[in-house]
Amino acid sequence: MENKKKTVTVKNLTTVFPTSRGLIKAANEISFSMSEGSCLALIGESGAGKSVTALSLLRLVPPPGRITGGEIILDNQDLLKLGSAEMRRVRGDDLALVFQDSLSTFNPVRPIGAHICETINTHRRLSNGEAKEIALGKMADMGLPAERVFKSFPFQLSGGMRQRAALAMALSLHPKLLITDEATTSLDVTLQAQVLHYLKKHLQDCCMSVLFISHDLAAAAAVADRVAVIYAGRIVESGPLKEVFQKPLHPYTEALIGSHPSFCSGTLEPIKGSPPDLANLSAGCSFVSRCSKASGICHQIAPVLQEAPTGHQAACHLLIGKVVDDGEVAVS
Ligand SMILES: Nc1ncnc2c1ncn2[C@@H]1O[C@H](COP(=O)(O)OP(=O)(O)O)[C@@H](O)[C@H]1O
Ligand SMILES: [Mg+2]
Repeated sequence: MENKKKTVTVKNLTTVFPTSRGLIKAANEISFSMSEGSCLALIGESGAGKSVTALSLLRLVPPPGRITGGEIILDNQDLLKLGSAEMRRVRGDDLALVFQDSLSTFNPVRPIGAHICETINTHRRLSNGEAKEIALGKMADMGLPAERVFKSFPFQLSGGMRQRAALAMALSLHPKLLITDEATTSLDVTLQAQVLHYLKKHLQDCCMSVLFISHDLAAAAAVADRVAVIYAGRIVESGPLKEVFQKPLHPYTEALIGSHPSFCSGTLEPIKGSPPDLANLSAGCSFVSRCSKASGICHQIAPVLQEAPTGHQAACHLLIGKVVDDGEVAVS
């Protein structure tokens, strides 16, 4: 997996919103990379900056929000350096976004199939027959009764079917990067498992990358191979999913796992306190007010992401104390 070609490299991506209380950094020096066929889960509480990161990658941040710095390298080109016409082409051809409410994705007065074919034709200039074949194929890949869904109007489908149809539409353009933003969150557990199953299967069959955004750790664990944990606009921990979930290095990741019924073997502990006010961040670590392990330095200096020998990265001053000499991570 590690030797596979990198499709996306994001470096120090920063997106700000001017507010009446000052400028807030909703995405603060976000960095990660993804390789072909991989799925990176971006997880964190509500308001952490997940959707802003997704919209920044597509350069669709709603004004007055704006990207103030960084790089988004897709196939050796920096998307932040492209003109708007070129960016529109990349958005259709190489990037796709599926979000929580697919009802607004589709035109309510057109059958799903016609809508998908039109989208394919806008970007690919295929015959109607060819577009239909692709649409039906992707719907079948998503486990949908393709012929029936093709003729259905959006309101005639259940939430789970519509969400899979939205994924089929996104996949029909063969994007290099698919971003799903809480795309399975509104579904019940069984439907969610079904959608994740088809998404994972599809991911393995082709060479795209998926950025799977969710606040649901169980959904992330079902589909991703790597994970990045975002808190107050910054990535505070990242690494292989198993490593991060089994041996979290950052107290926030630990708390997040401890608050989730699927991962916590003992008593569920809700995370104490609430996320900081982004307009009023102190100089130190943004998790400091909720961290039971914080010491003096945590109040004064914001920790940066550092590499641990496990292939993990975490932004925590405690990390230095956690990594023992033989390269193992000491788990308390
Ligand atoms: N349109 C906006 N105007 C001002 N601030 C915004 C806007 N959109 C997002 N933000 C700020 O960015 C933060 C991150 O939002 P978002 O990325 O939507 O969080 P989530 O992780 O829940 O997807 C929010 O807490 C909010 O302060
Ligand atoms: Mg969101």
